[in-house]
Amino acid sequence: MTTTSRGQLGGKIALVTGAAQGIGAAIARRFAREGATVVLADINESGAKQTAEAIVAEQGQAVALQMDVSQVASVATAAQSIRERFGGLDILVNNAAIVDIVGFDALTLEHYFRILRVNLDGALIVSMAMVPLIRARTTNGRILNIASIMGVRSAPGATAYSTAKGGVVNLTRSMACDLAKDGLVVNAIAPGFIDTPMCMLPDGSGHEHQQQWFQDIYLKYKRIPLGRAGTPDDVAGPAVFFCSDAARYVTGQILLVDGGVSATF
Ligand code: NAI
Repeated sequence: MTTTSRGQLGGKIALVTGAAQGIGAAIARRFAREGATVVLADINESGAKQTAEAIVAEQGQAVALQMDVSQVASVATAAQSIRERFGGLDILVNNAAIVDIVGFDALTLEHYFRILRVNLDGALIVSMAMVPLIRARTTNGRILNIASIMGVRSAPGATAYSTAKGGVVNLTRSMACDLAKDGLVVNAIAPGFIDTPMCMLPDGSGHEHQQQWFQDIYLKYKRIPLGRAGTPDDVAGPAVFFCSDAARYVTGQILLVDGGVSATF
């Protein structure tokens, strides 16, 4: 497969995990528009294929891979396939995650370990497998972790999710320190409220951002200064920045992309 040199990411090979839908899909689409060849990895292989096909239909370069970020063997197989196809990687975006709101009293260790395994261990497992591929291809690599505002704040029912995302925040800083010697910069985006399939309410009554309680607390009382929930594309722009040459002296940073939520109380 040939790579193009147009755009801020021209000629780069980028792996985005959890790219079948939501924020990961938006990042993959935007990266392709910026000239990257994008590998969309997801546990949902058919979803990843559909998104990759949509990118190719827009003249982008994209391929889909099945990958469960929580399974070492699955990630190793994906890494081997990337090595055979592209010889290495320039950019890794650790985006895949799951959410499940359970209050402390109802929390089970099984639930806690499942969330930690995908959301925190998954980012480490994928990074351990992909850093050698980045080293094989470039001395100007990029890792971008998608953390969450819940990694620096919390809310009722979020013990497991918030703990995992807090871990992602400091995993980012630790990896930034250790990988700087290779010219590899590691940063994180911590999104606020972004309207994606992750925000569908379990009872099927729609996206949480459409609920009256959300409108009252977050919009009426201006807890989101910009006055709306974010879109996946609102995260994709900052993701391009962190993975472009413009961020070459930026590492270990956590950028809240939250419409101003964390600036208020
Ligand atoms: P989403 O649920 O729409 O998409 C997540 C994707 O990850 C799905 O395609 C899913 O199949 C995939 N995935 C789940 N488990 C996987 C696994 N074990 N291996 C590989 N792929 C797996 O979620 P959304 O909203 O797009 O979230 C993307 C990232 O942004 C996540 O890290 C999430 O925690 C974070 N985030 C989202 C916020 C929001 O309001 N939507 C707010 C803050 C952070």
